[in-house]
Amino acid sequence: MEIDLSVDLAPGHKRGLLLRNPVMPASGTFSWGFEFEQHFGREGIERLGAVVSKGVTMEPRAGNRQPRVAETPAGMLNSIGLQNVGIRACIEELAPQWARWDTPVIVNIAGDTVDEFGEMARMLDGVPGIAGIELNISCPNVDTGGMEIGQSVEASARATRAAVRNTDLPVIVKLTPNVTDPVQLALACEAEGAAAICAVNTVLGMAIDIERRRPVLPRARGGLSGPAIKPIALRIVYDVAGAVRIPVIGCGGITTARDALEFLMAGASAVQVGTATFANPRALLDIIDGLEAWCAANGVTRLGDIVGCARPATVA
Ligand SMILES: Cc1cc2nc3c(=O)[nH]c(=O)nc-3n(C[C@H](O)[C@H](O)[C@H](O)COP(=O)(O)O)c2cc1C
Repeated sequence: MEIDLSVDLAPGHKRGLLLRNPVMPASGTFSWGFEFEQHFGREGIERLGAVVSKGVTMEPRAGNRQPRVAETPAGMLNSIGLQNVGIRACIEELAPQWARWDTPVIVNIAGDTVDEFGEMARMLDGVPGIAGIELNISCPNVDTGGMEIGQSVEASARATRAAVRNTDLPVIVKLTPNVTDPVQLALACEAEGAAAICAVNTVLGMAIDIERRRPVLPRARGGLSGPAIKPIALRIVYDVAGAVRIPVIGCGGITTARDALEFLMAGASAVQVGTATFANPRALLDIIDGLEAWCAANGVTRLGDIVGCARPATVA
C-alpha cells in the first residue's frame, strides 16, 4: 500500500514548506546535521521531513559554564546558553553544505531584541540551502531575548512581525510552555503572519546538588525536556491547535512513533524529536518507520487524515 506521509507546513505561503514526512529534529539536539549525516549518510538525512538547526544568534556565542546538563527522572535539564557560530558563519559556511541535501533546512534563530529577529530574518532571506526560519522566542537559558520575549504576547507579536516583514521564507514561531496561556501567544503570532507554530520549548526546572548545597546548573534554572514534559506539551498542542488555523508542530518528550501519533491526533501537523535522540540516535528514523507501519496496519493511506482526529468535534 502506498502511504502518503507528506505535509505542507506553510500552506498558502508564497514559498510553502513541503515535507516528505512530518518528522524532524528539535533545535539544539541535532547540531547542524552533519554528525547525523556521518552516521546515517545523505540517505539518512534525506529520509527526514526536515532538518532544524541549533539556535543561531547575531554574534557567535561560547554558551554557559559547565555543567550544562543534569539528568532527571524521565528527562534532562539543560542550560547550554545558545553556544553557536553566529549567523554570518551559518550563512557563509553551513548553508552551502545544507544546499547539497534534498531535505528542507529550517534555521532556528534567537534574537536579543525584537529588532534583531527582524534583522536575522532579513539576512537569511534568499540564502540557498535555507527553507524556513524558526523563531526561538522561548530559550530559558539566556539573559536577554529568549523567554523574556516569548512570555509577552505583545513582544512575541512584534518579533513575529519583524521577521515576517523581512523575509519571503516561512516563519515558524516556537512557543515557551512557561506561560499561563500559550493560546494567546499563538493567536498573536498567527495574526502577524507566522506560517506555523512550534509547541513547545523546554519547561523551566532545576536540580540541587545536596553535597555542594548548591544548584547543579551554574544559572540555577535550566530547561526540562524528555518524556517528563510530554503530557504538558501535548496539552498545549491540543489547546493551540484548537485555536489557530495555521499548522502546529508538536515538540516535547516524543520518543516513539506512538508518542508522535498522540501529537498528530491532538492536532499537530508535524513533530520534532529532541532528547530521545541522545539515547537512541536512530529515534527519528525509527519514528518515521513506525508511523508508516502504523498507517499500513490501520488502513490509513494519508497520514494527514488523522491530524486532530482526537479533538472533540471529530470524536464520535
Ligand atoms: C541540549 C538541548 C539544546 C537545545 N537547544 C535549543 C535551541 O538552540 N533552540 C531551541 O529553540 N530549542 C532548543 N532546545 C529545546 C528543544 O528544541 C525542544 O524544544 C525541547 O527539548 C523539548 O523537546 P524534547 O523533549 O523532544 O527534547 C534544546 C534542548 C536541549 C535538550
